[in-house]
Amino acid sequence: MAAAVTRLWRRSSSLAQRRSLHITPRVQKAKTGAEQIWLTRQHKDPYVKAAHVQNYRCRSAFKLIEINKEHKILQPGNRVVDCGAAPGAWSQVLVDKVNALGQDPAVSVGFVLGVDLLHITPLEGATFLCKCDLTEPTTHRKIIDLLPSGQADVILSDMAPNASGIKELDHQRLVSMCLSLLDVSDTVLRPGGNFLCKIWDGGKSNLIRDKLQQRFQYVRIVKPKASRTESAEIYLLAKSHKKEKASN
Ligand SMILES: C[S@@+](CC[C@H](N)C(=O)[O-])C[C@H]1O[C@@H](n2cnc3c(N)ncnc32)[C@H](O)[C@@H]1O
Repeated sequence: MAAAVTRLWRRSSSLAQRRSLHITPRVQKAKTGAEQIWLTRQHKDPYVKAAHVQNYRCRSAFKLIEINKEHKILQPGNRVVDCGAAPGAWSQVLVDKVNALGQDPAVSVGFVLGVDLLHITPLEGATFLCKCDLTEPTTHRKIIDLLPSGQADVILSDMAPNASGIKELDHQRLVSMCLSLLDVSDTVLRPGGNFLCKIWDGGKSNLIRDKLQQRFQYVRIVKPKASRTESAEIYLLAKSHKKEKASN
């Protein structure tokens, strides 16, 4: 089932990217029962509809909007790294929240850097590093080179590996991807900076939470309403990086 859904998601995704929108294609027909269940759920989902209406590339935009509304992690002028950024809905939210286009002259202008293994359709106000693996040190160096002053105020990750369907294995893979981002945060995040990452809940959730608690003043688990209740997905929010380093 997981493989069939991933296949359908990919087909939907490429079609939607051509339209610069990541929404459920109405013309597609499901080939299997699993695909039919996925399509039916997409058609009924209010966040899919709202993403269409508000021109977001996918429904996940509402997860970030909700987390930010409650926890205030983004400010105008922030330099943000969006890890696992394709198709680009979080980057759309970020361009607005950090004033990356300078549309509000009364506040600072921010910078949005999206990184993904996949191609991302260009977005005004965002810089994209496509076809880059965030677990690779070469990608980390490219991020530092592109960030103004080589530093970020916020690192976000909505990364997700292709699901194998084996719950614990998928959980461990995602945790180890997030752990490599923690190393990036030690180098790239300014003191006081914020970090948010998605994991699939499981046996190693406490391990990553402990590592965040060593580095940040405040750590919380958040599950926005836009995240499906049946999904093991949770977000770890860590605010105010403790490292002592001269701020830029
Ligand atoms: C759920 S999607 C992100 C959706 C995105 N937040 C948005 O709002 O458009 C997860 C993304 O993580 C990316 N990804 C998975 N493993 C990655 C890796 N090692 N390096 C970079 N991106 C990765 C996938 O290619 C996929 O595009």
